[in-house]
Amino acid sequence: MKVAMLTGGGDCPGLNAVMRAVARKGEKVYGDQIVGLRDGWRGAIDGDLVELSVASFRGTLPRGGTILGSSRTNPYKQDGGPEAVKTTLAGNGIDALVAIGGEDTLGVAARLAAEGVPVVGVPKTIDNDLSATELTFGFDTAVQVCVDAIDRLHTTAESHDRVMVVEVMGRHAGHIATWAAIAGGATMVLVPEHTFDIDEVCRTIQERHEGGRFASIVVVAEGALPSEGTLAVASGEVDAFGHVRLGGIGDQIANAIEERTGYETRAIVLGHVQRGGTPTAFDRVLATRFGIGAIDAVHDGDFGRMVALRAGSIVRVPLDEATAELKLIDPEVYDVAQVFFG
Ligand code: F6P
Repeated sequence: MKVAMLTGGGDCPGLNAVMRAVARKGEKVYGDQIVGLRDGWRGAIDGDLVELSVASFRGTLPRGGTILGSSRTNPYKQDGGPEAVKTTLAGNGIDALVAIGGEDTLGVAARLAAEGVPVVGVPKTIDNDLSATELTFGFDTAVQVCVDAIDRLHTTAESHDRVMVVEVMGRHAGHIATWAAIAGGATMVLVPEHTFDIDEVCRTIQERHEGGRFASIVVVAEGALPSEGTLAVASGEVDAFGHVRLGGIGDQIANAIEERTGYETRAIVLGHVQRGGTPTAFDRVLATRFGIGAIDAVHDGDFGRMVALRAGSIVRVPLDEATAELKLIDPEVYDVAQVFFG
């Protein structure tokens, strides 16, 4: 078969590991010809193809990012976009497409699959917010980056009696924030699932300081929101999938804490550092298992499906189900973090 791959949305540690596995099993076991579409759906629309092989992926297992490039292009937002994708596939004799991405990329894949395009999805996002899979690759790496940063920030917070507000990624869900807060021993965590009251945040910090602890670490997910009318927040530009560019809530919270408590407070935005660099061993293994699962699904003719991790095994779920709802933080995990607030 001739199998195409693409990577869409934000980059994520482990993307190369998925593609390496698809190429390896595709070429060596199934005798496939592998091609890549550059920059996600942009390459699929423009017919921007690159020939790939096992050799193309030498040295890429520990490498972050994606050797194919990525974009947030949405074919359904362009006149004739979906037809252009179909023309690229048919015109190049492509028998199957492996689309590696998050809710947006896989949402497009689900719509194309419903229109008869032979596509298999692989779930990717450091945010870990896809409901059909227990874990996405990249999440473990992102959490580890945050915990390394929090460990370092503890020492400066203690030396200078400061409050440190650490802003991490997590647009709709607080998985990264909550896991990083538990593992990093944070004073509290603010997540998109629960609006926060800045006065309560300040009260918790004040009580802690009155109890003799002069250093506090507040972890905030970029998508965290204040309860209505309690703190003004700015909003930014919108992308092709309708998402606002986030980043900045940490600064606003830090300013409010300093103003209201008088404690010196600093904000640190970890931003894209969480997405860059080498994937953890766990993410390399998960990504490799997903890649093998995807090429096996292609050869079973099991299209319109996404590979997923459930109860430790790689399974296949319908693509439309995979993108139907977001996975929010498990209340049990959030409750664990809450025990350590203050
Ligand atoms: O979807 C993953 C994610 O990391 C979100 O948490 C974040 O809002 C977004 O990507 C930012 O992406 P970029 O700034 O690269 O467009």
